Amino acid sequence: MEKIKIALTKGRLAEKSLKVFEAIGINFSAFYKDSRKLILPSDCGQYEMILVKALDVATYVENGAADIGIAGKDTLLEANANVFELVDLGFGKCRFAVAGSPGFDIERAVKLSVATKYPRVATEYFQQKGKQVETIKLNGSVELAPLVGLSDVIVDIVETGRTLKENGLEVLENMHSISARLVVNKASYKTKSETLQPFVEGIKQAITVSEG
Ligand code: PRP
Repeated sequence: MEKIKIALTKGRLAEKSLKVFEAIGINFSAFYKDSRKLILPSDCGQYEMILVKALDVATYVENGAADIGIAGKDTLLEANANVFELVDLGFGKCRFAVAGSPGFDIERAVKLSVATKYPRVATEYFQQKGKQVETIKLNGSVELAPLVGLSDVIVDIVETGRTLKENGLEVLENMHSISARLVVNKASYKTKSETLQPFVEGIKQAITVSEG
């Protein structure tokens, strides 16, 4: 049988994803070894995990380099990839928010500058509100931008709110809720349906059992 490639990002999402895979009998012992390998086989040999950056999961899946991917809705919205989003995994919960200095009046800014790792998400959000913005793309530590005068506000993910608080910022507007999603390559879902459909159904059931 053809191998199924799963794109994941190292970190909390991968660890939680591995628990779900284990619940349906797919184990990746190789993941727990201290290694720099980027392709890891499942113990049964039918699956292969490929370790990629969060924003790249959708790209690998869209192009068929991976059949399946697990990524946060934040990165999927930013990537805007043409993939099937089939399961809300219910973990990795956080939200997108506009944040800035306490009391900052977004409406009064004539041309708002917005620092973010998610320029597409930020632009779309403000476009829908009819607000003209200039986005400044950053790759991390986004909370710094309003503190040092790089931008008026930020659009970023907020999980516990600790990073904002410890840097004297606050949520000015809440945007979308985010959680981890399972995405599938459109062609693979047809050509490898014998393996992929039971896999997806198994994951859905495992999620329901762990939620119940
Ligand atoms: C993310 C995000 C916030 C922080 C939010 O950053 O960009 O900075 O986590 O979490 P909190 O609400 O629980 O404080 P990440 O840890 O990915 O680091 P980065 O700034 O380098 O992107």
